[in-house]
Amino acid sequence: MPSLSVFGAQWGDEGKGKIIDLLSLDVDVVVRYQGGANAGHTVIVGGEKYVLHLVPSGILHAGRVNVIAAGLAVDPVALLEEVDGLRERGVAVTGENLRLASSAHVIFAHHRTIDQLSERWRGAGRIGTTGRGIGPSYADKAARTGLRIGDLLEPDTCRKRLRAALAEKNALIERVHGEDPLDLDAQIESYVALGDRLRPFVCDAGAEVRSAYRAGKRVLFEGAQGFLLDLDHGTYPFVTSSSTGTNGIPAGAGFPAKDIERAVGIAKAYCTRVGEGPFPTEDEGPEGEAIRAAGNEYGATTGRPRRCGWFDTVAMRYALELNGAEGFVMTNLDVLSGFPQLRCAVAYVRDGERVEEFPAGQDLDGFEPIYETLPGWREDIGAVRDFEALPQAARDYVHWVEERVGAKILMLSVGPDREQVIPRGL
Ligand code: IMP
Repeated sequence: MPSLSVFGAQWGDEGKGKIIDLLSLDVDVVVRYQGGANAGHTVIVGGEKYVLHLVPSGILHAGRVNVIAAGLAVDPVALLEEVDGLRERGVAVTGENLRLASSAHVIFAHHRTIDQLSERWRGAGRIGTTGRGIGPSYADKAARTGLRIGDLLEPDTCRKRLRAALAEKNALIERVHGEDPLDLDAQIESYVALGDRLRPFVCDAGAEVRSAYRAGKRVLFEGAQGFLLDLDHGTYPFVTSSSTGTNGIPAGAGFPAKDIERAVGIAKAYCTRVGEGPFPTEDEGPEGEAIRAAGNEYGATTGRPRRCGWFDTVAMRYALELNGAEGFVMTNLDVLSGFPQLRCAVAYVRDGERVEEFPAGQDLDGFEPIYETLPGWREDIGAVRDFEALPQAARDYVHWVEERVGAKILMLSVGPDREQVIPRGL
């Protein structure tokens, strides 16, 4: 697989970290192309748990090059904390195996502050962001007032541009939100110093990825968040501020679309969502609660309880189609053990009319799922490694989902450890 896009096909937290970690064994370069430290990719290796926010999951394998590409919004404080944390645990992070695009945008302290203040301002209409400054940094990028990683490396440019930017942001913080402004000089000096620490990693990341691909290296593009949080195609405005699927790769990584050879989605055997926004198959009753408890569904970045519900074949067909995916990996199948019955949405209904296609661009609130119910299984399946060894009801569930989605499930994950997978062709 010379180039492969692996993306979240739901609302994030699909278990991408583990699958990408596994696939990293067979690749040379792992590229993050969008988002920032809002992501939390959990990887468990030899019983040790790592939560990666910005650094691509390939860092846990020696010899892989990990690229943070131009399309990210990078918080230097978060990135350096992550690098230090990995090094303390014996993971080598060097200028050789971690590459950072000079044109990635910077998240400053004021972006984090404004993210949180804007949420407070929106009140009941809040998005439920991670508060990591993602939206405000991307907003500055689009407004052409942002600073890029390369700017941090030029102290004079950094001082001049950050002074201009922060003067305006401080006015917003003080006069609109009624909070204390940030200390301009202290901020400037701290980011110049952070820039210096980032220097060994900084490069023209797009050029490096393209040249690695031309040289026959295998490249994996690691999506963060999930496709239903995509800025253009997700449940706007309850989305993140970047292009979270295969569509984000050409712009975010500086990699030609025609060279993305394969795309594979990752989806849980049920659905979850953190933050606000529509979620047609959400189950706010005891069964949703039971999924949360069984799946330990709490955010890896913020610790927030995730909203839980049932697998949604309508949304899944949409995500796979827009991403040109050949199939998907179904994770957390083990979490469904013990439910007497499983529900799956096969269509939606609105005003008495059946809707088969995901109503992109519309307010999803009026759409109710139409469920089909399947029998569950009781057995613990965490030790199963062979599809045929799964209980009949689990196999039926998998086949049923494949048929309804119209795509192959290329791997099943039945537990958090790297070994807990059932291969099916990926
Ligand atoms: P932001 O990305 O922090 O601006 O948050 C926007 C929306 O995306 C909120 O609903 C967040 O909960 C959600 N979100 C952001 N990153 C992730 C993630 O990695 N997993 C799941 N949800 C996320």
